Amino acid sequence: MSEQVLLINRRPPVRVLTLNRPQARNALNSQLIHELERAVDEARFSEDLRVLIITGAGDKAFCAGADLKERLAMSDGEVRRFLSAIRRLFSKIEELPLPVLAAINGVSLGGGTELALACDLRVAAAHATMGLTETRLAIIPGAGGTQRLPRLVGIALAKELIYTGRQLTAPEALAKGLVNRLAEHNKLMDVCLELSGEISKAGPIALAQAKFAINRGKDAELHTGLAIEASAYEACIPTEDRREGLRAFKEKRQPHYKGR
Ligand code: COA
Repeated sequence: MSEQVLLINRRPPVRVLTLNRPQARNALNSQLIHELERAVDEARFSEDLRVLIITGAGDKAFCAGADLKERLAMSDGEVRRFLSAIRRLFSKIEELPLPVLAAINGVSLGGGTELALACDLRVAAAHATMGLTETRLAIIPGAGGTQRLPRLVGIALAKELIYTGRQLTAPEALAKGLVNRLAEHNKLMDVCLELSGEISKAGPIALAQAKFAINRGKDAELHTGLAIEASAYEACIPTEDRREGLRAFKEKRQPHYKGR
């Protein structure tokens, strides 16, 4: 029987995907990429889902990047195929119409940090470390790292981190804006679930449209960005949820949003 490399814990409105190769520090092999993609595709159309959390099994590693042992046995063509799959997966995560949290439970290197960068928010355990170490292996970050890291922390710091392959401690990552929050070692999932609970109070269409507007607008000049925001707002106007929000406010009760 093959290894169960991805665990899926459904607890609506939240779902937790756990990379489950702790003996390989949750490194991404072809099977794990494939299973993650399937889980992300499924999440995209799950009506009861509001927040997706991605984490790693154990407390040592979130993800040690690509599986370097598998890589050693690959032909150049197979490496290209793997890279194409991991890029597609991370873009799908970035484009999911719901917030995705990376719960960084330990070391996060190379593709592990690139995975976290494709998520919307990052919460790191206090002992976690993060880095894009690829140049030490005579390659470059190939699953979005050269693009998403500078957009998040600025070009100067991104260049320094990528050129040196240096790892940041969790407090350094917080100070540089690479992670949103820190959590005590054994409180990481509690913090992520609490944050997910807060997010889940929002209207799901509003969350999807806000994410769309930010993602699509962030690289556009202001006028285009404002036009993207206007059209994302437009999508919220005819929804049942928008009317429900107004009614709930008037009636002094919590709204019940249905994503319609
Ligand atoms: N691919 C495949 N296997 C990996 C791996 C990876 N990226 N990272 C770790 N492993 C394996 C190790 O080979 C080891 O296997 P073994 O028990 O069969 O020898 C096991 O995971 C534990 O690793 P170990 O190095 O003993 O654990 P550690 O806790 O001391 O260190 C890391 C963990 C992640 C810091 C270290 O393993 C490391 O630097 N890995 C390479 C990470 C990297 O460069 N990633 C970028 C890829 S582009």
